[in-house]
Amino acid sequence: MKPLNRVLIEKDTSYNPIWIMRQAGRYLPEFRKIRKENPDFINLCLNENLSFEITLQPLKRFDLDAAIIFSDILMLPYGLGQKVEFEKNFGPKLGKFDLNKVSKVDQIDFTAKLHKVYKAIKKVSEDSIVSDKNTIGFVGAPWTLLVYMINKQSPKKQLKQNFFEDNFLINRILLIIEKFLKIHIKNQIENGANVIQIFDSWAGLLDEKDLPNYVYTPTLNLVNYVKSLNVPVICFPREIKNYKEFCEVVKPDAINIDYNLNPKEIVKYIQIPVQGGLDPKILLTDYENLKKETLKYLEIFKDHPYIFNLGHGILPETNPMMVENLTKIVRDF
Ligand code: CP3
Repeated sequence: MKPLNRVLIEKDTSYNPIWIMRQAGRYLPEFRKIRKENPDFINLCLNENLSFEITLQPLKRFDLDAAIIFSDILMLPYGLGQKVEFEKNFGPKLGKFDLNKVSKVDQIDFTAKLHKVYKAIKKVSEDSIVSDKNTIGFVGAPWTLLVYMINKQSPKKQLKQNFFEDNFLINRILLIIEKFLKIHIKNQIENGANVIQIFDSWAGLLDEKDLPNYVYTPTLNLVNYVKSLNVPVICFPREIKNYKEFCEVVKPDAINIDYNLNPKEIVKYIQIPVQGGLDPKILLTDYENLKKETLKYLEIFKDHPYIFNLGHGILPETNPMMVENLTKIVRDF
């Protein structure tokens, strides 16, 4: 049994697997070197050899239980023909969403555009370094992708007033996103992904009244789809107002919690396996503090199926030594 499946399927509380959101990334000098030589981020994601190499970089350094494929949630709009670029010190910049153009894209075009991503997953999942680890595939949740595709950049703290103005268009786009997310998920699984994580990074922007339409229903459809392929699915509806309701409605195999939540409360009212929680900023402090905070999570969840992870992606300024310390603290527990 793969380490994450012990928690996700067997609900084993005797073992806390660990992996780290954004584990393949800018805090690693070996990633920054490759990144410098490859200024086009999308092309880097589509380079199967480099994507494979970057995915394995953290596993060569640290004792982690899973590889997460080096790619991005914005490969979906890219696969649909929307322009996606990453600008230094700004983040993603998308081109105009053209409904006519996107409506003409079919499953074959989409899969052809992203086939290097799938080849990289295959290469990773067949490598001996992951033979006793999980290979995590991932997607953005429909809502978060909708935000990027319409807003064309990260929305910061709130949406523009007129975001929901063209309701017809929004609902059309949501259905297209959902259709292609299923294809993207299936392709990842067919090439060796054995856990799927759904990132809903902007779920926290919505009012509670809008959650069913934009978060619960589309995510539930995806969760059911992943389950139908017999693969466990982890959801991360970041900064959502009501994690309990989300779990009861969407029923993922595990829920990733963000660092604003009180884990003592979560353990009381969430029945399903939990992942994550530690504030990534703790990795910028010192060893003693890291140990104290890490043990806090492990203690609170000691009788609950729990995968160790952070409450958001690791920060670029993190010293890799602190990740090494973190994995050791979790292993020694
Ligand atoms: O976790 C991993 O190591 C796997 C790879 C991965 C990346 N992005 C690589 C990446 C994953 C799982 C993601 C998910 C992702 N991408 C999310 C959801 C998680 C979250 O952080 O909320 C979102 C919202 C995106 C969109 C995105 N991609 C943004 C906003 C940015 C720029 C700012 C940032 O956080 O880096 C990216 C770029 C990106 N994706 C980088 C990496 C390693 C940095 C690229 C670089 O400039 O070198």
